[in-house]
Amino acid sequence: MSLLEVNDLKVRFHDAAPDHYAVGGVSFSMEKGDILGLVGESGTGKTVTAMCISGLLPREKADRSGSILLDGTEIFDCTEEELNRMLGSDMTVVFQEPMTSFNPVYRIGRQVEEGLYVHEKNLSKAQRKERALEAMRRAGLSDAEEIYRKYPHELSGGMLQRAMIAAAIVTNPKLLIADEITTALDVTIQAQIIDLLLDLNHNDGMTILFISHDLRVVRRLCSHVIVMQKGKIVENGRTENVFAHPQHTYTRHLIEAIPHRAKRLNEDE
Ligand SMILES: Nc1ncnc2c1ncn2[C@@H]1O[C@H](COP(=O)(O)OP(=O)(O)OP(=O)(O)O)[C@@H](O)[C@H]1O
Ligand SMILES: [Mg+2]
Repeated sequence: MSLLEVNDLKVRFHDAAPDHYAVGGVSFSMEKGDILGLVGESGTGKTVTAMCISGLLPREKADRSGSILLDGTEIFDCTEEELNRMLGSDMTVVFQEPMTSFNPVYRIGRQVEEGLYVHEKNLSKAQRKERALEAMRRAGLSDAEEIYRKYPHELSGGMLQRAMIAAAIVTNPKLLIADEITTALDVTIQAQIIDLLLDLNHNDGMTILFISHDLRVVRRLCSHVIVMQKGKIVENGRTENVFAHPQHTYTRHLIEAIPHRAKRLNEDE
């Protein structure tokens, strides 16, 4: 059984035109251990797809249809309570805006531990802290003890993004959904986060859905890639095949848009 099966997913926001589907019939699956890159131009439905999978799309804002099975459980049939139980243990999501994801009044450590309060209630305070520190170190926050005590406004954007990742991996989820998490970061930190994701995948078997505009990063990181255009999938395959033999004009344009030097460097690897 696939870890994730999305079947004919359609989403139409209530305030959109009657025939405008933010997601217009998307189907794909992910096996355990896959790193799937979801790419495509802005407004094409990537985030909305991620929100559906994680059960975060507000029901009162949009009509949706189709099916999303996570490890055999139909997400669309889950109650709020069931979703809360799954979110944080079976899957976690990291979005682009760490500033708005953290609550300014709580210390970082408390927020990294959040998932443990919900999903591993029997841990002692010391055990929770140890797990949080471990997740923070893995996310590249080497002075974890110090950062544990800090407030969100005391950290740089890059550090906050890593703290977000720490919060997302502290419960060892089966599926990590990362939506544009490297986009706002400089290249060095970007590279460190890519290495972290590869490490989580290789050593912990974590399955990752990686949403990005950056085809270069997708090429380095992802085993599979899906290209979306206007709410539909136009390309789906193993990364090396999609890059070597793009089927769709849109994908060819995307690949051609990768800066020449970067393309050459990648090919030399
Ligand atoms: N809360 C909302 N209310 C109404 N329409 C929305 C809402 N969120 C997204 N949409 C619409 O859904 C479509 C898909 O948006 P989505 O955010 O999934 O794009 P995206 O591929 O993630 O783009 P980007 O690369 O810019 O993040 C867009 O047409 C957008 O206007
Ligand atoms: Mg988006």
